[in-house]
Order: sequence, then structure tokens, then C-alpha cells
Amino acid sequence: MLALTDFSSRLIAWQRIHGRHDLPWQNTRDAYRIWLSEIMLQQTQVSTVIPYYARFLERFPTVTALADAPIDDVMALWAGLGYYSRARNLHRCAQVVAHERGGAFPRTVDELAMLPGIGRSTAAAIASFAFGARATILDGNVKRVLARVFGVEGFPGEKKVENAMWTLAESLLPDAANKDDVTAYTQGLMDLGATLCVRGKPDCARCPFASDCVAKVEGRQRELPAARPKKAVPTRKTWMLVLKDGDSVLLQKRPSTGIWGGLWSLPEAEDEAALLKVARNLGSGWKLEHLAPLTHTFTHFKLDIEPRLGQAIHPPRELTDIETVWAPFAKIDAYGLPAPVRKLLDALTGTLI
Ligand code: ADE
Repeated sequence: MLALTDFSSRLIAWQRIHGRHDLPWQNTRDAYRIWLSEIMLQQTQVSTVIPYYARFLERFPTVTALADAPIDDVMALWAGLGYYSRARNLHRCAQVVAHERGGAFPRTVDELAMLPGIGRSTAAAIASFAFGARATILDGNVKRVLARVFGVEGFPGEKKVENAMWTLAESLLPDAANKDDVTAYTQGLMDLGATLCVRGKPDCARCPFASDCVAKVEGRQRELPAARPKKAVPTRKTWMLVLKDGDSVLLQKRPSTGIWGGLWSLPEAEDEAALLKVARNLGSGWKLEHLAPLTHTFTHFKLDIEPRLGQAIHPPRELTDIETVWAPFAKIDAYGLPAPVRKLLDALTGTLI
């Protein structure tokens, strides 16, 4: 991992010149206004939040005004922002602050985090912005910045990775000597993540960490942070017949729609017994030999293939309307085959030679 000794000073210097300074919840140390903005900004973009924030402050200028309003009024004003549990928690939090704490928000991260709707990162943002506390934030934007700059591997939603990121984020905090520095640092992390180090196309040319950033240096901006691991894909199983007649194998044309549409492939069935029936109809003897199974991964499912080898000993019993050929192994290249079928036949010819 990168050892960057001047991360915070570089970020603060960048924030002071290139960061955002005129958002409606900046240039104040009013904890009510800061808290309200941080709750609204959870999972919601700045541009969406701005008009809601203005309407809320107009209707509820103080935490007590919000606490004493009917919940229906709060919900109505929140309508359209989404994640409505935020609005219910907002109202409950306002009631605790107004009625149990005399209208004053607590000043420490731990106390803030005990209030409804305030998690560890939001508590730190409030403590940092309202009180200049030396507190560590770690939201989605910050995780992206840290994963890229320091080359943190793994999906940041995973507990182990997240814990490592908290430790890293804590180690990067600037000195507490200057409260404005702490505020600029916290805002700088948010600004960098929201304006340059964005998910799709990061603007590395303007980034103060471009020369040290692991993702940039290694060209891995698209890989870091790692994506949420894919859900397990369903598995299907099929039995395939490799029916040989001398140096030829029987291929059938697949229907034009569905997987492998229009390719040449091997006859298939959904179980062993059904495959034997297919094999007999196509002229196979009674015995089918087991070949090594293989798995093919599609985007949405996995296909387990159980191949069976048969020898043609009599002419086909019934003609099917499926286009069928005896393809010489030597000319197998001339047929468009699904990758696992090709692999299967290659392995077979390899062992036959
Ligand atoms: N996202 C979360 N908190 C924010 C803030 N204070 N400014 C801009 N975006 C944010």
C-alpha cells in the first residue's frame, strides 16, 4: 500500500483552491443546518438536495420547529427525496435534540452516533463541519478515493475491507491544531470523490494525487474500488452425445434462437436415460462411455455438461427435422461449434491420437 505522508496537506491545499465553497450548508457552524444537509445527502446527490434543503429550512428554521411539526408535514416536505426512513428518523432525532438536550446537538462523534438516523460517518461529518472535530468520515465517495489512491483491494461493502478502510482513513487525518483545516480536509475528501474521482470517468489530469495514485499509476481506475461480488449464478445440467462413426462425429444444427443459436453442436438430453434413447435413435450401440464432465459459464447461468461417447453401429432409426451431419474430426474447424463442444472434441481427438 502507498505510503503518502502528505495526503492531508495536499488534500487541504487542493480543497482551498479547487473544492466547493458555496454549497448552501457550507460557511456555517450551525449544527442543525449541517445535520439536516448530511441526512439529506445520504445516498442523494447535491443537486437533488438543494431545493429540498431550502424548503425545509424555510418551513423549519430551527431544530425545535422541526421537532414540534406533525410527522405528516415532515413526510410531505420530504416527498420525492426517497429513503423515507430518513425522514422519520430526522423527526425523531429533532425531538430528542429539542426536548432532551435543550436544542443543542452533542459535540462528539460517539454521542452524535447515538441519535436516530446518524451513523458513524454522518456523525463524523457533523462533528467535523459543525465543531471542527478531528473525526473520520467514510462514505461511498471516500471509499472510492481511498481504494484508488492507496490501491485497497476487495469490495468496500465487505466488512473486512471496510474495517481496513476505517483504519486507513483514521491514519490520514490532519492534526487537530487548526479547526478550519479539519473542515477543509473533510470537505476535500467529499469534493474529490464527487468532482474528480468519480465512478465512471475520473478526471485524473486535475487530481492532486495523480502521480502517486495506485489506480492511476497502474491504469486500474475501472477496477478500483472492486465491484460488489456477483451473486451465484444458477446452474443447469445437460447430457451430450459424442456419437462416432469411424473418424467422424455426429453434429446437429441448433435452433436459431436460444443459446448457441445457429451453431453446430452435439445432440443433447436432460438426463442419462433420455440421452441413451436419443443415441439409440441415431444409430448408437447400447453402451455409452463416460467422458470427463465440463462446465461452461454464461452471463446468467452455468452449464454443467455430462458427455457420453457412443459408437454408431446401425443407421438412424428415425429421421429428425434437425439438420444433422457426420463431421470428420479432421475438418471440425469448418463447423461453428460452441466453445465447450470444441474443447470436448479437441480433448477427445487428443486422447484418440
Ligand atoms: N455529501 C455528503 N455530505 C456532503 C457535503 N457536506 N457536501 C457535499 N456533498 C456531501
